[in-house]
Amino acid sequence: MKKKVLASVLAAVMIAGLTACGGQAAAPAPAPEAPAAEAPAKEEAEAPAEEAPAEEAPAAEEAGGLISVGFAQVGHESDWRTASTKSCQDVFSEANGYNLSFVDCDNDSAAQLEAVRSFIEQDVDYIIIDPIVSTGWDTVLGECEEAGIPVIVIDRTIDDSDKYVSWVGSDFLTEGKAAGEWLKAYAAKQGISEINYLIIQGTTGSSAQIGRTDGFREIAKAEGWNELDAQTGDFTEAGGQEVMESFCKSYAGKFNVVICENDNEAFGAMTAMDNAGVKYGPGNDVILISYDACTAGLKEVQAGKITADFECNPLAAPTVEKVIQTLQSGGTPEAQILVPDNWYALKDQIVDFSVDGNAQSMTEVTDAVIEAQY
Ligand code: AHR
Repeated sequence: MKKKVLASVLAAVMIAGLTACGGQAAAPAPAPEAPAAEAPAKEEAEAPAEEAPAEEAPAAEEAGGLISVGFAQVGHESDWRTASTKSCQDVFSEANGYNLSFVDCDNDSAAQLEAVRSFIEQDVDYIIIDPIVSTGWDTVLGECEEAGIPVIVIDRTIDDSDKYVSWVGSDFLTEGKAAGEWLKAYAAKQGISEINYLIIQGTTGSSAQIGRTDGFREIAKAEGWNELDAQTGDFTEAGGQEVMESFCKSYAGKFNVVICENDNEAFGAMTAMDNAGVKYGPGNDVILISYDACTAGLKEVQAGKITADFECNPLAAPTVEKVIQTLQSGGTPEAQILVPDNWYALKDQIVDFSVDGNAQSMTEVTDAVIEAQY
């Protein structure tokens, strides 16, 4: 099937997918199931939708039988990102029937748009985008649509365009709410009546930053907690350290909670607090909350530094591959596919809490849990 003809098939697939999902692909993701008490298998999320007759399949035989895929990755800013890249490269390997063009966009939105346009030039069969920021996408996605190249969005969301087939990723708003609800229950258990918190945010305008900040603030506002400051650390260790150094000077002795919007920022914040003589972690002055729960983050939970860590699962690539296989066989993938997350702490920091009325389970960090993580 020629790409221009495929464009109209694609439009039909997107409309069908969005309709099946009851709304716009760019709309907020539905709440996930409550995390399981045991860490789930990391290899797979939910399976995409139904298969359909093979005769509607897009052609992908040009590259010697390999399906060509362009992946515009955010960058290499974190342990999470390294795990995400490795997962994509493992899944979209030649051995699995793919020819992967991978671009590390180094957290540069202009470079990411350029990467997508280079994939259109290359006439790849599919484009995968992990959008650095959630806006500014409609024009280039229109160009992908015009070229008849299906786009699959992974991890972060696009909020100003619906010109893509599927999104596969985590629910950042729920992650933020989970952190807030956990803190509420934990503070009650510890007899902490006043919360003065600082946020080291992720990359400004990324859906991971927006969702986690908004989710946490929703609980904070309802509880009357005091937000002293919020600044971006750009999801990096160096950024986390720099922001925390400034916080330690400006708010010395005034804060009892620090929320880092990923593990690498938490590592930087830990260095800054160590240097400033601030004691943090269970049993100390400051509660340190983090997101991602990669191996290195969970080791800091086990070491009594990070008090609770809220996972963002980076292994979405196997599900993206299922989306592509569904399209290859002429089927209609689901418009939104959630990757399940878990919440982690040591035994004494595990408390009961709910998010939007759904009871949550926490996973105790043990050697085996760390060993199984990415
Ligand atoms: O988009 C996912 C976020 O991006 C992860 O939390 C963070 O580590 C990464 O940089």
